[in-house]
Amino acid sequence: MALDGIDGCGKSTHCIKLAEHFGALGRKVLLTREPGGTEIGAELRARLLSSKYELEPESEMMLFFVDRLEHLTKKVIPALNEGMVVISDRFTASTFAYQVFGRGIPESVYTSLERIALKVVPDAAVIIDNEPIACITRAKARLIEDGKEESEGKFEQLPYEFFRNVRNGFLTFAEKNGYVRVVEGLGTVEEVFSRVLSSIK
Ligand code: TYD
Repeated sequence: MALDGIDGCGKSTHCIKLAEHFGALGRKVLLTREPGGTEIGAELRARLLSSKYELEPESEMMLFFVDRLEHLTKKVIPALNEGMVVISDRFTASTFAYQVFGRGIPESVYTSLERIALKVVPDAAVIIDNEPIACITRAKARLIEDGKEESEGKFEQLPYEFFRNVRNGFLTFAEKNGYVRVVEGLGTVEEVFSRVLSSIK
C-alpha cells in the first residue's frame, strides 16, 4: 500500500502508524519510501531534492521513475513475494501530482514512463488531502529545524500556485484510479489515522 499527499500533510506519521498496526497483527512489514528506497535511490533522492541542480522537468520525472523501477524490482517485489506487507511513503500518485499537474508535463509522458516502471500496483493507496498552505508551512519549518533547507527543500520553496495544482493532481489521480482513496487530513493524528485505516480496509 502507498500513502501520498502534499509535503507536511502528515503522511510519514501515518506510514509509521500503519507499520505498527500491521506489526501488532503479527505481519512482517516493509516500511519504505520514494524517492530513496534503495542504495541508488538514496543518491537519486539527494539530487532530486537539492536546490543545487536545475533539472529539466522531464529529467526530474525520469529520475523519479528510475528510482521507482529500482525500488520495485530490488525491494518491493521481493518483500511481497515473502508475504510481507509493504508500505511506501509516496508512490506514483506523487509523480502524477507533482510532475504532471505541478510541473505541467503532458500526461502522455507520464503514461509512457509508467508503462516501463510500474511493475506492481498497490492493493490500496491513500491520499491525505489538506490545505496546501498549512502543509507547506509545516514542511518548511521542519526543514529549517533539521538544517536541510538547501539539501532537501527544493519543492517546499515553490510558490503556493504550484501546490494548488499538485493538490488538484492528487484528486484527479484518485478519480482515475479505483484503488486510491482520499482521506481528509484535517484533525488530530488519531482522527486522521482512523480514516486512513478504514479507507484501506
Ligand atoms: P518526501 O520525502 O516524502 O517529503 P516529505 O517528507 O516532506 O513529505 O518527498 C520528497 C519530495 O519529492 C516531495 O516534495 C515530493 C517530491 N516527489 C515528486 O515530486 N515526485 C515523485 O514522484 C515523488 C515520489 C516525490
